[in-house]
Amino acid sequence: MRPAIDDDIASLVNIERDVSPFPWNEKQFAESLQKHRSYVLCKGNRVVGFLIFNQVVDEAELLNIAVKSSFQGEGLGAYLLDYFLAEISASTVSAFLEVRVSNFPAIALYEGRGFRHMGERKAYYHGYSGREDAWIMRCDLPLR
Ligand SMILES: CC(C)(COP(=O)(O)OP(=O)(O)OC[C@H]1O[C@@H](n2cnc3c(N)ncnc32)[C@H](O)[C@@H]1OP(=O)(O)O)[C@@H](O)C(=O)NCCC(=O)NCCS
Repeated sequence: MRPAIDDDIASLVNIERDVSPFPWNEKQFAESLQKHRSYVLCKGNRVVGFLIFNQVVDEAELLNIAVKSSFQGEGLGAYLLDYFLAEISASTVSAFLEVRVSNFPAIALYEGRGFRHMGERKAYYHGYSGREDAWIMRCDLPLR
């Protein structure tokens, strides 16, 4: 893992297009690198995953996480989420995220790491047929 730099943006866009039905674009990643904490996961010199989050006082929000499809199912998504939780755990009480209700792999990943459903945002995402709801999930962290 290392912090993402501007030269990674093309790789981030490629991964996002590979795995997301409505992918973030170059501008969104460029803004995220400026505003949020952004990391890339590399195998050799190849970017195979990324993690973007925000931390304000004692709360953190996971904004995006992805693993290139050809590297999924190998534990890398869990590695990224564990990295996020380890990074925030010293000063964070609660972590939040939003996820499409249809995104079963991501929901299973989050539930496996202690996130729980705490609410919904109706019609939050673009969907193939109209809009799709988001689950809001929360994980309470023990203070260290
Ligand atoms: C979600 C994502 C990051 C998981 O990455 P991954 O490297 O495949 O995940 P891992 O191999 O580390 O698996 C971790 C856990 O995720 C869940 N999971 C992963 N793939 C799954 C699948 N196809 N079906 C159900 N659960 C799945 C399981 O709970 C798994 O734990 P287990 O191996 O003990 O069963 C990956 O699917 C991805 O990039 N998806 C597209 C981007 C995305 O949806 N991001 C979330 C936005 S909110």
